[in-house]
Amino acid sequence: MAMPSEARAQRILDSLNTAILTCDRDLKVVSANPAGEALFGVSTNHLLRRSLSDLCPNDRRAIAPLRNALETGQPVTAHAMRLTLSPELTITVDYTATPVSGWNDDVRLILELIRVDRFLRLAREDSLLDSYAAGRAVLRGLAHEIKNPLGGLRGAAQLLDRELPNRGYREYTRIIIHEADRLRNLVDRMMGPRQPLKSEAVNIHEVLEHVRRLVQAENPEGLILLRDYDPSLPDLKGDREQLIQAILNVARNAVEAMDGRGRLELRTRVKRFVTIDHVRHRRVIHIEIADDGPGVPEELRAQIFYPLVTGRADGTGLGLSIAQDILGRHGGMIEFTSEPGATRFSFYLPFNKPGNRT
Ligand SMILES: Nc1ncnc2c1ncn2[C@@H]1O[C@H](COP(=O)(O)OP(=O)(O)OP(=O)(O)O)[C@@H](O)[C@H]1O
Ligand SMILES: [Mg+2]
Repeated sequence: MAMPSEARAQRILDSLNTAILTCDRDLKVVSANPAGEALFGVSTNHLLRRSLSDLCPNDRRAIAPLRNALETGQPVTAHAMRLTLSPELTITVDYTATPVSGWNDDVRLILELIRVDRFLRLAREDSLLDSYAAGRAVLRGLAHEIKNPLGGLRGAAQLLDRELPNRGYREYTRIIIHEADRLRNLVDRMMGPRQPLKSEAVNIHEVLEHVRRLVQAENPEGLILLRDYDPSLPDLKGDREQLIQAILNVARNAVEAMDGRGRLELRTRVKRFVTIDHVRHRRVIHIEIADDGPGVPEELRAQIFYPLVTGRADGTGLGLSIAQDILGRHGGMIEFTSEPGATRFSFYLPFNKPGNRT
């Protein structure tokens, strides 16, 4: 039997993450959905028939626009309003209040409240991500400038190689060609992936399993690989190949730091209320790559996401800057914490890439 439309509407209200309150013209609460109860931290019974001015006696600045909305019949939206719910509890909300008439000839105010102080702000200094991006942009420009003359250099060495009468000199032209190729490869890596980001359905566990198999095959002995996945994670929209590269760069670093011997753990969870690069997300994927190696050298900690920063004799210092770049293009980011025996790299990845950053 079909559900009556009122019951259906109620069920929708009940399942919303957004707190919805309806109030009468005296700002007395007439109804609240479960998210509303959760926001105020009390049961609906406790909220019903209480006036918002009683519930938040010290918040006239937040309440005044509501009366205004009732008087003018116009909706209002307010940002970052502080509500003092008890002496111990102050929260910050964004709200929209919409007056709706025709309620037995009376008017109701529908209040949608979103708590904003629960959003965990990543990249505590917002400028940090910008500065990584600026570093990479300079490097891309430089890489481009190097590649053109390098092509000329290589071509000339090849011509010379053919023309040289004395075969003994060819050893030198070969060195020029070989070194030019090496430099071109480095420059290509420095530029990072240049293809436009694909937007395909990606199962993050399939990506992690792919990385796990690769890393395991590269280190058949001494590496203990552990997994702790949240199987309820839905697919995300992103570029599978590039995500593999980002995760692989970080996993390889961990293995290199442990000299191929130690524990590497891959973990996934949902993280709620996260702000990345000024964008708020209700839910993001949190991937953790943890190792029990010696930890990131103290003197490198502030810089490891910048290009060409390396603590390894044979490192190029590009792995993390490329990984951060790839995550950035997905609207996400990478952070880490590290101490000897416990290093964790955290990837925060939105389910859908916000905006059109490429
Ligand atoms: N899990 C880790 N444990 C300890 N140190 C780490 C870890 N991950 C990264 N590092 C440090 O950060 C540095 C920078 O890493 P990044 O991947 O950017 O460059 P790289 O590994 O040196 O060179 P590349 O990845 O380009 O071959 C590393 O050289 C290492 O010193
Ligand atoms: Mg690396």
